[in-house]
Amino acid sequence: MRIILLGGPGSGKGTQAGFLTRHFGIPQVSSGDMLRAAVREGTELGRKAKGIMEAGELVPDDLIVAMVSERLDRPDCAEGFVLDGFPRTIPQAEALRDAGVGVDTVIEIAVDDEEIVLRMSGRRVHPASGRVYHAVHHPPRVEGRDDETGEELIQRADDREDTVRTRLAVYREQTEPLVDFYRAHAGRGELRYARIDGTGEVEEVRARTIDAVRPG
Ligand code: AP5
Repeated sequence: MRIILLGGPGSGKGTQAGFLTRHFGIPQVSSGDMLRAAVREGTELGRKAKGIMEAGELVPDDLIVAMVSERLDRPDCAEGFVLDGFPRTIPQAEALRDAGVGVDTVIEIAVDDEEIVLRMSGRRVHPASGRVYHAVHHPPRVEGRDDETGEELIQRADDREDTVRTRLAVYREQTEPLVDFYRAHAGRGELRYARIDGTGEVEEVRARTIDAVRPG
């Protein structure tokens, strides 16, 4: 069960990856969460990535490919994984393919730009786990606190409206070409491609996501 979640910033990839992880017992591999951990820990990768992420631009492909490849080589990924935020460019997708990492399902989560800008202003995250909430649409049980640890939730530095709009433009330019890339693979019968509506209640989107992995 090797799944890629594709979609713009704030389309719900992290939220749905969390559900798939629990439903199918496979790890979530989030390039954004890994980079934010590297920034917090002050590693060399984190120092290189920090300013780029705050500006809403993409971290160079070679750094990302090395980071994700190392993660996918770990034993917990042997039975499958949910890729959230990777690949994000054609060279990243080609690197994944050239490394012999097969993919079973690509799910594109579609949400329009204005809805995304609204969502981002309400997003709250638990930095240590990557668990994600929304002040209105997906609130934690106790306001401002993570459901599992009770630790404080924060707002991400790149969730300011102007940065979100930069991230949307970067998505259109550099990531959206992956739609045709993976649709072509699906056309050759190499994987399943599903485009789902990412709007509506979080639970409704969850049902659509799980159905896209296991139709019927
Ligand atoms: P990353 O962390 O991957 O950010 P992103 O793709 O922009 O996606 P987000 O995490 O912002 O959103 P999401 O789709 O996961 O939505 P979420 O579930 O949180 O990357 C950050 C940065 O790192 C990049 O800008 C780049 O610099 C760098 N980077 C990462 N990967 C890279 C790569 N491969 N190559 C190069 N650079 C890379 O949901 C958003 C909000 O909406 C939440 O508050 C949630 O609760 C709420 N919500 C979810 N579903 C619903 C719903 N149905 N209705 C209402 N609200 C909802």
